[in-house]
Parts: sequence; structure tokens; C-alpha cells
Amino acid sequence: MKIAVLPGDGIGPEIINQAVKVLKAINLEDCVEYAPIGGAGFDEFNDPLPKSTLDLAISADAILLGAVGDWKYDKLPRDMRPERGLLRIRKSLNLFANLRPAIMFSELIHASTLKSEFVSDLDIMIIRELTGDIYFGEPRGISKNKKNEREGLNTMRYSEPEIIRIAHVAFKTALKRSKKLCSVDKANVLEATELWREVVIQIGKEYPEVELSHMYVDNAAMQLVKNPKQFDVIVTGNIFGDILSDQASMLTGSIGMLPSASLDAKNKGMYEPSHGSAPDIAGQDKANPLATILSLAMMFKYTFNDQNKFNLIENAVKKTLNDGFRTEDIFSKGTNLVGCEEMGNKVIERLEV
Ligand code: IPM
Ligand code: MG
Repeated sequence: MKIAVLPGDGIGPEIINQAVKVLKAINLEDCVEYAPIGGAGFDEFNDPLPKSTLDLAISADAILLGAVGDWKYDKLPRDMRPERGLLRIRKSLNLFANLRPAIMFSELIHASTLKSEFVSDLDIMIIRELTGDIYFGEPRGISKNKKNEREGLNTMRYSEPEIIRIAHVAFKTALKRSKKLCSVDKANVLEATELWREVVIQIGKEYPEVELSHMYVDNAAMQLVKNPKQFDVIVTGNIFGDILSDQASMLTGSIGMLPSASLDAKNKGMYEPSHGSAPDIAGQDKANPLATILSLAMMFKYTFNDQNKFNLIENAVKKTLNDGFRTEDIFSKGTNLVGCEEMGNKVIERLEV
């Protein structure tokens, strides 16, 4: 078993350290190989996705990623920016299915800005298509138009095969859960998503047990805060999924709690917290490592088919919360404020190996 570990930038290295401590605690530290990505890749090799990093990721069974991005790289040419490294590794490894669960841990109910009755027991799975859409569509760029004005251009594109494969992932996921799937699009305005809806309906015929519904993205954004528990599995394109998953994360109290899996057709995966690199708190031992630790748990579930290790790690996280330990982002009166490092230690103490 080989796990490529890519800490990245900002709080990436601190949160990754905590997840690697978990691997150590379950005797898997020998599986770990490190490589730089994002700004760290640029600093070392002048490339946000150095060839050696991509090669390691290709040869590994799974990848654990911290986060990429820092203000200090914002002036670099677009191709050299940290975010480009992340997009390139997703595309190069064909990680088209991004699973972003938004689960309410009962201990954190008061960290949500929504009234408890609307978010208690919330358990939504957002499936975001990750290698298509306006993120990768050509043509793109900033250039002069015929009137000699500068113009920014991006292209929203979805091919039928791209929609078919993500639809299958979504229906299969729905089958394992409550058999309800909501596909989110903007079919009333955008042709790319008109095709999306048509194809999802077509694939849905192969899954008659799944109750399929459709929602325009603007309405979905509203419904997510109005009555989030109406959703179980949501499937949507890259850009809508980016936005809705951030929104869904706050239903559960903090984006610092949300793990994610990005899978290829064979369930090889890259696992990363849904949050970013938070350069404003980097190096201060304030970050919440739980999303990263839960991402590691997802690795065992989806890539290594090891439900026991998934449960082991998730239970340790739950116990840590139950025992009152909180990083700043989820802190409330009467709980015990800890830093990133200590939070990692508390989880490890609670691993029942
Ligand atoms: C995410 C992030 C990335 C994205 C950025 C960092 C490129 O926001 O994983 O949601 O837009 O996909
Ligand atoms: Mg995002």
C-alpha cells in the first residue's frame, strides 16, 4: 500500500501532520511518501505540480492532500499558481467524482448558524463533477476583443460521456443511501446543463428504484438553507458543486469539519479537506485537523474498502468531540479550546486499535 501525501500550503502541513499521526498510530506510516504541490511545488521545482509529484501520485494507491494557495503566489502567471497544480492533478488522474459529505455531528449542533431543528441529524452527500465544466472548458483566457476592450472568457462545456459517468456514480451512491437523488443544474438558461438534465434523466431509467428530482441551482442554494433535510444525495457540475459544497459545509457548523474524496473510475482517490489553505491562520496551530483526519477515514472506505478503519477513525473523532475538545472554528462556551496539534493528539488517544 502506497499513500502519496501532499501537504501543500498554508495550514496544509499542520493538518496533514495530524492525519499522518493517525496513520502512525495504526502502523501504516511506512506507506507514506511525501511530495510538494501548489506553492510548495513552485518554491521547490518552479511548478505547482512538479513531475516527480505527479509520478508519485500516479504510482500511489491513494493520495492525501492538505490544501493549496497563499496570497504570496497571487501575482504569478496563472499557470504557475498553486490552484493550477490542484486542478492539474485532478485532471491528470481523471478524478472526476468528488464526494463531499455534509454531516452534522450532534455535538456541534450549536456551532451551526441555523436553528437546531433544521440541521439536527443532517446527512447530505454532494457529488460534484470535478474534471469538466467551466473549470476546464476551452477557449479560455483574457484578451482584447474586436472593440479593443479587454475581455475575460471561460467556456462551460459538458460532453455526454462526462455526464453519463458522474450520473452513474450518483445513482449508485443514492442506491446505498435513501434512494433519493437531486440533480442540480441551470437548464432554464444554460445549454450545457440542459444536456446535463437530459442525460441524467436517461441514465435514471437504469435505476428505477431511485427517486430522481431536478432543481435549478439558484433554488437549490435557497432550499439548502431553508430546509436542508429535504436533500440526501445531490449531483451537480463542477462550478455549482464548488459553491453549493461550501454552503452546505456551514450547515454543519464549520467548513473545518468537511472531508472529501475525489475518485476515478476504479475508486483510486485523492482525499482532501473541503476547506482551503487559510493562510491567515497558517503556522499558528489554530487550524481544525478533523476534516483532514476524516478525509483519511474516507480513503479507507472508498479506495481500500476497509470499513473497519473508517469506523475506527470516525469514532475517535466523534469521541474527541463528545469529550468537549474544540478548535477555534467550532468552539463554544463550556467546551475545551485546543490547537491543531493537541486536537490531533486527542483523536489518536481515542483510536481503539
Ligand atoms: C475546492 C477549491 C478549489 C476548487 C480551488 C482551490 C481551486 O475551492 O476544492 O473546492 O475551486 O475546486
Ligand atoms: Mg471550493
